[in-house]
Amino acid sequence: MDKADDGRPDALGRYGKLCVVDDTQISDDLTRVLFTTEQIAGRMIELAAEIDRDYAGKDLLLVGVLNGAVMVMADLSRALTMHCKMDWMAVTSYGSGTQSSGVVRILKDLSTDITGVHVLVVEDIIDTGLTLSYLVSNLLSRGPASLKIMTAFRKPEAEQNAVEVAYVGFDIPNEFVVGYGLDYDGRYRNLTSVGALSPHVYS
Ligand code: PRP
Repeated sequence: MDKADDGRPDALGRYGKLCVVDDTQISDDLTRVLFTTEQIAGRMIELAAEIDRDYAGKDLLLVGVLNGAVMVMADLSRALTMHCKMDWMAVTSYGSGTQSSGVVRILKDLSTDITGVHVLVVEDIIDTGLTLSYLVSNLLSRGPASLKIMTAFRKPEAEQNAVEVAYVGFDIPNEFVVGYGLDYDGRYRNLTSVGALSPHVYS
């Protein structure tokens, strides 16, 4: 992490080296870093500016999909200059191992009624797109004023499931990536950068 540890928060309100896990601390677990802390922060600020423009004068509800979207929700929402509300859903995909099946079960539903509300779903990653396909049809059935998707990362296979994504942080190759909310077996979510996980960790 290049940021000077001067005791002051950066543009996204985060503090210096003592408070974060960065890729230099777990370099043995990664084959490479795809995006640095600074690159991710910069992209979130760019996307927030787009969202500010697109939703000017509207009430916006951000819906984060737990657990991975915690980091992007925190950064994106604080980079907005407009007011927004936040709500959360937790879903799980039926299926074997790490493969999505497309059959999704809601573990935690929204706390609010979204009828007539402008909803922006916030995801950490779209892999196969199956989770979002389900979520979109489920949320549309509740009659929002509008429904758009934002994701920090998107893999190539997502296009096959034809979910329209309005805001994409980064398109990434089909690799096992961790960090910035993305986990392996519950770990690495608090890595501030994003890296490709070394096969020795999961094999
Ligand atoms: C991840 C991610 C998406 C989903 C995408 O969640 O947050 O919700 O997978 O996969 P798909 O495009 O193949 O459907 P995960 O189930 O890993 O849960 P987590 O957010 O708690 O890590």
